[in-house]
Amino acid sequence: MGKVHAAITAVHGWVPEFRLTNKELEQMVDTNDEWIRSRTGIEERRILKAKNKASSDMGAEAVKGLLEKSGTSPEEVDLLICATVTPDMLFPATANIICDKVGIKGKASFDLNAACSGFLYALSVGARMMESGAYKKVVVVGADKMSSIVDYQDRTTCILFGDAAGAVLLEPNEDGLGFQDAVLKTDGEGRELLRQEGGGSLIPATVESVMAGKHYIRQEGPKVFKFAVTNMADAAEEILQNHQLKGEDITWLVPHQANKRIIDATAERMGLPLDRVMVNIQKYGNTTAATIPLCLWEWESQLRKGDNLIIAAFGGGFTWGSAWVKWAYDGDKR
Ligand code: UT7
Repeated sequence: MGKVHAAITAVHGWVPEFRLTNKELEQMVDTNDEWIRSRTGIEERRILKAKNKASSDMGAEAVKGLLEKSGTSPEEVDLLICATVTPDMLFPATANIICDKVGIKGKASFDLNAACSGFLYALSVGARMMESGAYKKVVVVGADKMSSIVDYQDRTTCILFGDAAGAVLLEPNEDGLGFQDAVLKTDGEGRELLRQEGGGSLIPATVESVMAGKHYIRQEGPKVFKFAVTNMADAAEEILQNHQLKGEDITWLVPHQANKRIIDATAERMGLPLDRVMVNIQKYGNTTAATIPLCLWEWESQLRKGDNLIIAAFGGGFTWGSAWVKWAYDGDKR
C-alpha cells in the first residue's frame, strides 16, 4: 500500500451577484479607476447585499455545489474545516453552521483563522488529518464576507476587498497524487499592520469602540506590501527548493489574490511565465480565505491529472506559506 495523500477530488465556488465597480467606488471615496487598476489590478468585486446572509450562507452554497458535483452525500463527509476571518459570529464556529445548512450532522467541524493564508492553512491541516488515516472525506472551505468589516469611507481598504466562498473535497489517494507538502509561517509582530482591532476580548464591542471604527479592517498598505512581496515569494521558492523542483516543473502557480503586483513578483521569482499563473483579482478583488479555491474552481476545466500546483499566500498575523499539490483529475467535474 502506497503512502496516503489527500487529493483534491472536486472544487466549487460561490460569489454574490452584486458587482461593486471601480466607477461606483469613485462616487463613494476619493479614488479613481486608473489608480485602483494600476496599483492593485482590481476592476470590480462582488458584495453580498442580501439581508441576514453571512459567510456561512456563501460557504454552504459552495459546499452544496461541491457535494452535488462530486456525487457525495452529506453523511459521507467526516470533517469540515472553514477558514474565515468574518465568521457569522465569534461562536459557534461558522463551520458548525455550514454543516447544519448542508445536512452534515455528528461529524467533526471547526473554524481556522489564518487571515488571507486561511485556505492554505486549512488545506494543510485537512490533508495532514487525512494522512493520519482517521478521516476519509474532508471538506475545506474558505468563506469571507469582507464587506461586513470594510469601512466604505476608507479609500485605502474599501477598494481591495470582496465577498465569496470556495470549497474543495479531499479524498485519500495512494497513487502519489494530491497534497505533497507545505511551508507554513507566522510572525505575530505584524499584528498591528493588518487587523480588526475591536470586537474580541481585548476591546469588546462597546458604543465607544464602534464609534471609533475599531470593528473595521485597518491596514498599513505599503508596509504590508513589503512583507507580502518578499515572504510570499520566499515561501514559494522554499517549497521548490525543499523538493528539488524548478520553475519548469510547475504547471500552475495559485497565488492569494491581494495585489496583482505581489502575484507578478512571486511568479517572476519562481521563473514562471504569467500564462501559468491563476489571476482573477480583476473580477473579485481580495476575498481573503476564498481567493485560492475560487482560482481552482475557475481553472478546473484546464487542470490535468499530475499537474504540479504551487499554492502561495500571505495575510494578516502575519501568516504566510506555500503548498505543493499534484492535481488528481482531468478537467471539469460537472
Ligand atoms: O491580503 C492580505 C495582505 N495584504 C496585502 O498584501 C496588501 C498589501 N498592500 C497593497 O497591496 C498596497 O499597499 C495597496 C494597494 C494597499 C496600496 O498601494 P500602494 O502602491 O502601496 O499605495 P500607497 O498606500 O503608498 O499610496 C500611494 C498614494 C498616496 O498618496 P501620496 O501620499 O503619494 O500623495 C495615497 O494617499 O496613493 C494614495 N492613495 C490612493 N489614491 C487613490 C491611497 N489609496 C488610494 C486610493 N485611490 N484608493
